[in-house]
Amino acid sequence: MCGIVGYIGEQNATPIILNGLKRLEYRGYDSAGVAVLEDGEIQVRRDAGKLGRLFTLVDSQPVAGKLGIGHTRWATHGEPNARNAHPHMGATGEVVLVHNGIVENYLELKDELQAEGVTFNSDTDTEVIVHLVERYLSQDVDLEQAARQALNQLQGHHGIVMFSSRQPDRIVAARIGNAGGVVVGFGKGEMFVASDLPAILEHTREVVFLESGQMAVVSREGLAMNGLDGQSLDYQVDTVAWDPVAAEKGEYRHFMQKEIHEQVRSLTDTIAGRVDFDNSRILLPDLNLDADFARQIEKIFIIACGTAGYAGMVGKTLIERIARVPVEFDIASEFRYRDPLVTDKHVVLAISQSGETADTLAAMAEGRARGATLWSIVNAVGSQAMRIADGHITMQSGPEIGVASTKAYTAPLVDLYMLAILLGDLRGVLGEDERRALVAELRMVPEWASACLERESEVLAVAEEIADMEHCLYLGRGINTATAYEGALKLKEISYIHAEGYPAGEMKHGPIALVDADMPVIAIAPRDPWYEKMISQIEQAKARGGKVVAVATEGDTVIPTLADHVLWVPETPWMLSPVFTVIPLQLLAYHIASLRGLDVDQPRNLAKSVTVE
Ligand code: AGP
Repeated sequence: MCGIVGYIGEQNATPIILNGLKRLEYRGYDSAGVAVLEDGEIQVRRDAGKLGRLFTLVDSQPVAGKLGIGHTRWATHGEPNARNAHPHMGATGEVVLVHNGIVENYLELKDELQAEGVTFNSDTDTEVIVHLVERYLSQDVDLEQAARQALNQLQGHHGIVMFSSRQPDRIVAARIGNAGGVVVGFGKGEMFVASDLPAILEHTREVVFLESGQMAVVSREGLAMNGLDGQSLDYQVDTVAWDPVAAEKGEYRHFMQKEIHEQVRSLTDTIAGRVDFDNSRILLPDLNLDADFARQIEKIFIIACGTAGYAGMVGKTLIERIARVPVEFDIASEFRYRDPLVTDKHVVLAISQSGETADTLAAMAEGRARGATLWSIVNAVGSQAMRIADGHITMQSGPEIGVASTKAYTAPLVDLYMLAILLGDLRGVLGEDERRALVAELRMVPEWASACLERESEVLAVAEEIADMEHCLYLGRGINTATAYEGALKLKEISYIHAEGYPAGEMKHGPIALVDADMPVIAIAPRDPWYEKMISQIEQAKARGGKVVAVATEGDTVIPTLADHVLWVPETPWMLSPVFTVIPLQLLAYHIASLRGLDVDQPRNLAKSVTVE
């Protein structure tokens, strides 16, 4: 997902924008640029590659001014090079803009503009927008009206920020659909615009998140919000609780390692304030859930992508087992195209760290269109998935910067466990004793997570043994099948090793043909209802010469006699076991990727939030 930063005020905009872009690096990009109004002229500096190149360019060709915008681009249309990097100017040099999203009708717009004699200087879809704005600006309307006329011609999802040398007292920003957020930050005599909070948090915590279809006119004095039809809109200023330091690496080498170790804190925070331990009750007020509504729910569809999807798979087991509500799980990008049988007696529950994933938002829209109630479990406060839902649960994990999701996987697992208890309680299917027992287990969650993290050196030793492997199988059963998928995803996305998660029971139906001395098998075998089945899996893999790394419960005396290596987790209730069996797998993937000298926090080809379909 691209990054946007804008500034208007009395300071030099250039360093504010460049440092803001640096805080958005984690989103993944392949070119970057900045545009600043200097002595009445728009000056642009942009280059392919990482921000270091842009910093060098700005050092060699300095630019300074009190109004500017910047961008980190993830190439969709046009090579990642200086020519296609944002910001983009039109023919007059009086308008400059940056853009997140895809102009789905850009070819026809480009043809139309070229027929009017417009010359294009890039291969991007974005460039059509700035030429459209110039077309309307030449008709003696102000920048906001010109922008509105241009944006009303675009198809697709967009986040756009622009300014003009003709009206140097304002920045115009707009959001259409779900191409990543646009947030306005309030300073004293200065204002900020960004695509995500970390870019501006060191300057302000008073922010307004744009909704889809909103246009912000930002001046030194403040903000005017309008719809794309021009009508004036009210807005709500949110105060962000996040600590900007939380978005720093601290003493860790990578954000991912820091965030793995933050799980004691993030699990504590996701539980805090939500459990009345005295009365063994769960409190999720933002869900807007009462007993009447809980009782009439006939089915819940859980939809998500990637890691969030695997959390959803665990959620299906938890909600069905505890609350006795039928649950279907769908990968979000499949849900909307399978004509799902959704009614107004159903809930569509989206899980998303960023809350901006296009596939997930589109699946939510599909659920809404079919009459379902929308819930979401999100980490990014103010994100679209939070704002469009009828009820939500925040993960409370703090900013997750590493592209590979870790704490934003374990937090929703606990949120889903709490949701299941609340639903079972409200539907009257959970006995007092069972509810008290389930709630009581939550007290130990941070301690169990800490116990897993204390064994990092043992995981590192195993990583050193298998770091040069080229393939790997992750096997799990029951509630830990999702752990196998998630463990494999962690490894493949940061170490580029071909790793595959598989339901262990399926091995005999073909995949066991893969197992030999060159195919390590990671077997997730805690003391849960499927333990015996996993023992047999480990024996079958060993019988074929496979090297087995087992995740096992402390005190197990059988598995050490079978497996080549054991990664230990504490004894926990099986319904919470996925929170802990995943931690050694997160650490294993992290250390293997580090040993292979790879860019752990920004793996190739990946973005932190996928805001395009
Ligand atoms: C997980 O490590 C990946 N970064 C990716 O699968 C991610 O979980 C997925 O894109 C969903 O993102 P979201 O949680 O922000 O919706």
